[in-house]
Amino acid sequence: MALDNLRAFIDAIERAGELRQVARPVSVDKEITEIADRCMKSPGGGPALLFRQPTLRSGGPSRYPVAVNLFGSARRMALALGVECLDEIGERIASLVNLKIPDTLLGKLAMLPQLAEVAKFPPKTAGGRPPCQAVVIRAPDVDLSQFPVPVCWPEDGGPYITLPGVITRDPGTGVRNVGMYRIQVLGKNELAMHWQRHKVGAAHWRAMAARSETMPVAIALGGDPASIYAASAPLPPTIDEFLFAGFLRREPVRLAKAVTSDLEVPAEAELVVEGYIDPREELVLEGPFGDHTGFYSLADYYPKVHVTAVTMRAEPIWPHTIVGQPPMEDYWLGHATERIFLPLLKLTIPEIVDIHMPAAGIFHNLVFVSIDKQYPGQAYKVMNGLWGQGLMSLAKVIIVFDKDVNVQDPREAWWVALNHIDPERDVRFTMGPIDVLDHSSRGFTFGSKMGIDATRKWKEEGFTREWPNRIVMDDATRQKVDAMWKELGIDLGGNGR
Ligand SMILES: Cc1cc2nc3c(=O)[nH]c(=O)nc-3n(C[C@H](O)[C@H](O)[C@H](O)COP(=O)(O)O)c2cc1C
Repeated sequence: MALDNLRAFIDAIERAGELRQVARPVSVDKEITEIADRCMKSPGGGPALLFRQPTLRSGGPSRYPVAVNLFGSARRMALALGVECLDEIGERIASLVNLKIPDTLLGKLAMLPQLAEVAKFPPKTAGGRPPCQAVVIRAPDVDLSQFPVPVCWPEDGGPYITLPGVITRDPGTGVRNVGMYRIQVLGKNELAMHWQRHKVGAAHWRAMAARSETMPVAIALGGDPASIYAASAPLPPTIDEFLFAGFLRREPVRLAKAVTSDLEVPAEAELVVEGYIDPREELVLEGPFGDHTGFYSLADYYPKVHVTAVTMRAEPIWPHTIVGQPPMEDYWLGHATERIFLPLLKLTIPEIVDIHMPAAGIFHNLVFVSIDKQYPGQAYKVMNGLWGQGLMSLAKVIIVFDKDVNVQDPREAWWVALNHIDPERDVRFTMGPIDVLDHSSRGFTFGSKMGIDATRKWKEEGFTREWPNRIVMDDATRQKVDAMWKELGIDLGGNGR
């Protein structure tokens, strides 16, 4: 059975032994960050945390608990998506869309809604009063300072909503988008929406601005864990994330009509902030914000959201995450995307064997890819192919390896890469779009990229010397040493035999 809401997910995490409840008061003002950061840095991602008694910035007690690091381990990510192993999902999608056309990753993904297996689970709009609307507070009575919205880091511009599903609609096609974008709380009922220019929410906003139309927005907190994950997944604009979540869950996501706009919101959400953006209005200063790069994103101008209503369960739980110096919880969300999208990438770039975005590379800085090299120059074909695929276009450094390299192990990958390259010969620079959060590129969202060919070099590639073998002990000797290991009296704490 799919998990229907945040509390069912938290219960499942508790049953799995990965939840720690914190009973003592802890301030939303940076204290939650310091505690969660220590957990997220521990091996395997640390436990999920439920702060039972957060203290508001005003010093008073919060009526509502705060949950952090819910997605922050391999086990919890699999629990969220109802699988034992994340690779299962990618295989399931790939078997559905293994068709000759269209030939790009996004093109193949865009076909999903037409496939019967996916169309079985469209979101359903329920009648009656949904759980997320048990309490309805309309403007001007909304006061966001009553909620435990954390301030994450010392230089942050204010409190931030960090784990939302931001719901908008394309005014042309009517297709819905749900995106995970951080949102700064500016005051009682005003927010700053940090959707970056490459993201679908921002494209909807540009389309609304071109029409000079006011744009309704709904910000869902909580709901089923597959929908929360889907908001972070780089799906093409033609796919409704709630449909994708239904496919992941094998059960439709239940929606309800928002109370102040014609958008639909997840019926099972903990809390929904409804509002609108007036694209004719001046942008507001958002940030700085301690970001997932491990550095502060500088303050910049983003659209202002006017809150028209807050709807919620009677006793909502506030879902939260922190980003900062990696590894953090977002590594696990991104890792799920890496595993789910790999089989799809293989359909469009078939020589790809595996791909990995190590935590320190914060997704857009570093991509390791191993390939089954069959012809000279293939590493360059692969890196150029990747730079042409959706948000992969933002990757700053791509390193291509032969298929025998385990790219899931960054130590092995770096060791091989540094051995296998002649820097002048094997490194190429090109230009392209760069992630909004990159603080070093020559222009905002524009700069250079580096591709490194760390494969064995072939004669046809101009390499005429002999290429050496990797050092590996022969099986016979290993077995002999295994047999004598106990007699040797050498204790390597489980690392020997
Ligand atoms: C914890 C977390 C925070 C994020 N914050 C932002 C953000 O503030 N702005 C943004 O544009 N993308 C942010 N992202 C990345 C987007 O969620 C991601 O690119 C997603 O694919 C966007 O959805 P879209 O393709 O529908 O626009 C964040 C991702 C995670 C996991």
